[in-house]
Amino acid sequence: MGTIERRFLTTPIYYASGEPHIGHAYTTILTDVLARFHRQDGKDVFFLTGTDEHGQKIQDEAEKRGVEPIELCDVMAERFKQAWDRLGISYDRFIRTTEDQHKATVTAFLQRLWDRDQIYEGTYSGWYCVSDERYWTEKDLGEDRTCPICGREVTYVEEKNYFFKMSEWQDALVKQIQDNPDWIVPEIRKNEILSFLKQPLGDLSISRPKSRLSWGIDLPFDRDHVAYVWVDALINYLTASGAIDPSRADGEQGFEDVALSWWPADMHLVGKDILTTHSVYWPTLLMGVGLPVPRQILAHGWWVVGETKMSKSLGNVVDPLMLRDTFGTDAVRWYLMREMPTGADASYTPERFLARYDELANVLGNLVSRSTSMINKYRAGLVPDAASNGLDPEVDHALESARSAIERLKVHDAFAAAMDLARAANVYIEERKPWAQAKDPELATELDETLATLARVLVVLCALFQPVATEKMHELALRLGLDGVPTLEKAVAEDMTGKRLATGDPLFPRVHPEWMDKTT
Ligand code: MSP
Repeated sequence: MGTIERRFLTTPIYYASGEPHIGHAYTTILTDVLARFHRQDGKDVFFLTGTDEHGQKIQDEAEKRGVEPIELCDVMAERFKQAWDRLGISYDRFIRTTEDQHKATVTAFLQRLWDRDQIYEGTYSGWYCVSDERYWTEKDLGEDRTCPICGREVTYVEEKNYFFKMSEWQDALVKQIQDNPDWIVPEIRKNEILSFLKQPLGDLSISRPKSRLSWGIDLPFDRDHVAYVWVDALINYLTASGAIDPSRADGEQGFEDVALSWWPADMHLVGKDILTTHSVYWPTLLMGVGLPVPRQILAHGWWVVGETKMSKSLGNVVDPLMLRDTFGTDAVRWYLMREMPTGADASYTPERFLARYDELANVLGNLVSRSTSMINKYRAGLVPDAASNGLDPEVDHALESARSAIERLKVHDAFAAAMDLARAANVYIEERKPWAQAKDPELATELDETLATLARVLVVLCALFQPVATEKMHELALRLGLDGVPTLEKAVAEDMTGKRLATGDPLFPRVHPEWMDKTT
């Protein structure tokens, strides 16, 4: 027996200072869709998500609300968990950076960096953006002297810090990127990182004095300082992987479990704004402690609203849960996955959302209704014993395209291929005219073939749409008389003859347009 392939997929851990919005939902749903594809393909998947709970941003937000930071984090971690449950996210582990296991792992990690002479004490002077928790140099700020990521004001800091010798790893990092062309995808982002690495790489400040920020994890070699929140946050991936057993993590010990753990991650999924932290800070830190780097990093684009950046102050933040309450979980997932080409930016508009919903309702939903009701009307609900006649090339093409699109991480193309198959099946109905075949007893065999063909296509569609439309495909599998949504392989091989198909309410019911005002 061959060994089962494993996949460890991660989302970023979200700041516990704000509500989940469609940007967060996008990264998480994208990861979920890939996780479901892999599971459907028989792989053993470990899907990690969670919340980023230390740092200035959290401390400030808690102060603003007049609560302790941990109280804020407790509330927000629950909010994120609930959001993910309502959006059908099949995560295996939800990590919080305030957990004991994580604190112990960060401590062990930093101790090991220290023991390996990878850390030195120095003075930091420069700019800091609290919103992104990032240090910036004079040059980074540009002409308007604001944060290059979020455009907010930055503060000047000058203080004693500990530094990680990141610059020592610059050549190794460049080699890693050049030797592994798909390590950072898409290509355009990889090239940005490579061009960033043409400049000499500085060392990385990894601490904050407690006198200014107390909400963090103590440095094991200087209790007057806490770990820089990005270092703390990135290590979450390692904590959850089980690569370090903190109870044994003195010196070199406790790092021996890597082979038994989920580390290295197969894919970190991140937005383009946090690619540098994931593809420069994180791999060099891992090199510093002597652990393998992640296998791949996927940087996706940004959702904007119309033409504008989404922001709390503009009041245009799109709430995925509001959309979900009106249209259902699958509709939100479908829209986000189908509308944004992986890696590119996309614009949210209510009109596009409706258009994508109509596609689900009018193409897929309609096909299911028509096919199941005709089988009920003409053949008492039983799939006739007949060869399929037509649509074989379309089925093969859809399977082939979806598989190859997923391999290339073109999730939107995979689902476009699935929808094209549903569209082709609707055209097939128009061409075969089963209602006419049903009127002529001489065409009974042709009608059997038409209905058997449609039943077969529905099974394949059920498998193809499963990673995105998880709820409705579960419902469809029941209507098709299957015991659960089939894998792609099983779907193709499934013998539908004699199965009893049920009809039911439309999978994607009509929605009245007043909802539009309520989503932002
Ligand atoms: N806490 C850090 C990540 C630490 S990971 C070790 C963080 N958190 S975040 O809550 O600000 O955002 C996390 C993710 O949401 C990022 O991948 C970011 O790209 C994504 N998005 C936030 N706004 C977004 C859009 N408007 N559009 C798409 N994704 C965006 O960063």
